[in-house]
Amino acid sequence: MFRVRSIHVIALAFGVIAAGLGMLSIWPRTAAPAITRDTLASSFASDLRHVVYEWDPSDPRSEADRRQALFEFMYETYDASAWIPQSLFDSNLVTQAVVGDVDTIVGEKVGLVLWRDNRRVPAFGMAPNAGTPGDGQTLRWTVNCLVCHTAEIDGVAYLGAGTKTFDELWLGEALKRLTSDEWRRLPRGSEDAAAAADAHRILSSHHHDKIDSLTRARSTAFAASHVELYMRPHNGEMPRVEDVGRGDVKTPPLWHTAAKMPIGRWYADGSFHGPFPLMASSMELEKDRGFDALIQVVMPRIKRDFESVVRHLRPPRYPYEVDEALAARGRELFDSKDVGCSQCHGEYDGNGHVRWPGAHAEVGTDRSRLDVVSDGFVAAFNASPLAAEGALATSRSYAATPLTGVWANFPYLHNGSVPTLHHLLGPVSARPRIFEVLAAKRLDRTRVGQPLYTNPRDAQLGEAALLRRSGDDRNWFNAARPGCGNAGHDFWSRIQTDANRRALIEYLKTL
Ligand code: HEC
Ligand code: HEC
Repeated sequence: MFRVRSIHVIALAFGVIAAGLGMLSIWPRTAAPAITRDTLASSFASDLRHVVYEWDPSDPRSEADRRQALFEFMYETYDASAWIPQSLFDSNLVTQAVVGDVDTIVGEKVGLVLWRDNRRVPAFGMAPNAGTPGDGQTLRWTVNCLVCHTAEIDGVAYLGAGTKTFDELWLGEALKRLTSDEWRRLPRGSEDAAAAADAHRILSSHHHDKIDSLTRARSTAFAASHVELYMRPHNGEMPRVEDVGRGDVKTPPLWHTAAKMPIGRWYADGSFHGPFPLMASSMELEKDRGFDALIQVVMPRIKRDFESVVRHLRPPRYPYEVDEALAARGRELFDSKDVGCSQCHGEYDGNGHVRWPGAHAEVGTDRSRLDVVSDGFVAAFNASPLAAEGALATSRSYAATPLTGVWANFPYLHNGSVPTLHHLLGPVSARPRIFEVLAAKRLDRTRVGQPLYTNPRDAQLGEAALLRRSGDDRNWFNAARPGCGNAGHDFWSRIQTDANRRALIEYLKTL
């Protein structure tokens, strides 16, 4: 209903992405050989030099061992079953006519975080089929956890932060077009042509209406898991559209894993109970894999990734100045009986650790995501290998999420419906009803969160005019869309003054 789906725009976008990737390439124009793991490893340290991540200092492993674990995680392919050949980008003549600037393509259209220091891999979360020298393989790509779990803020890449810009719909549609008969210009019978045809079949057969988010950089990951888990025992048939919930969410940061491990309840609604949030493995099911592959390859590797990397990640420090005196005042308020934030959100040590109470509390925020976990979803889960790794149970309320690194977790609430801490901690009536998604590449240091617009002239237009102009545009967050409500979590009556709010925000910067 809200989606603007102009074939033209999509065709152009895919062309531009393709041209962009082609231009980025340092590989020859046809059948580029696969990149070897040794080559990737040789530049890994320097590729990482501007990537921000914090590691638990009490991890007893050596720096070299941690690096190696991180390398495995960042280039993880889970032995993917679906690949996009590089030659598809290089050989497409049409795309070369629509040459655009690389940063706008991968960065703005698809919204991946560019890996600027890496000469071989254009963006975080893109993983090549890294082979051994001389194995005759050509270069192909798949995507992994980091397409969603990396973000750029003020030009800096933060590993583990939830994406603020990635558009799954754009990427899916673009790749579908690119791999279709009409556009595929690869030698018939070649291995790359076969890989592209296979990718096209997978992209088309796993496309369910409920797995397109209504807004850029919001994800339907949970609904997609329902669809995928249902398909396996039903001969590849999808559940009926009305049986799948709609509850678009933002991507939470990976450093919440450490905070949540002692409680073992996962995701926005805490509906997954188990040692690790393994619903992530259904990402591979979307690539058409069976339950056997899940059991033999995907789940063991994801568990290894959690053990060796994810659980050790801690939140990045606030990169700008903090007023310590004001933050100390904020801390008192946060922990006080009257304001009572810590009762739900826990106590913080200022070094990225929290004693998280595991509270799941009804605070009146949008319900849609809670309803995604339906009886049908639970039944599909219970008939899958995931049932051996945890339990799925409907939840009545959302997690009072850990606030570690909360300065970087904007926009706020599970659906990313509130752009700044200032708006979240103020009166509900003052929260913006529309704001621009891609403005979230920058931090608003005063209100802490994202600016509402990239173009200052939009600020003068006023909400009613913006809603008329951009209310249907998925690049804009519109709080009137289903699942996108921005009400609830209303603590203004306890916070009471702007001075208190400022102190709380200052304290939140230090978590
Ligand atoms: C398509 C985007 C996407 C990909 C790819 C993805 N995730 Fe996520 N991840 C999400 C979203 C969205 C959520 C929140 C889901 C919800 O609560 O409804 C999430 C939640 C999480 C959480 C937080 C759980 C919590 O309770 O705080 C962890 C940890 C996580 N994912 C790990 C991974 C790992 C590991 C991978 C790779 C195997 C992965 N994710 C792949 C989008 C993604
Ligand atoms: C009754 C329990 C409760 C109290 C008290 C409470 N919160 Fe929350 N808080 C929640 C819940 C539940 C959520 C998640 C709601 C959602 O995502 O829909 C949340 C979300 C948040 C978020 C958004 C986090 C993110 O990453 O999006 C922030 C920030 C926050 N709370 C700060 C505070 C502060 C500051 C206070 C004290 C003024 C406070 N909360 C008091 C339960 C509570």
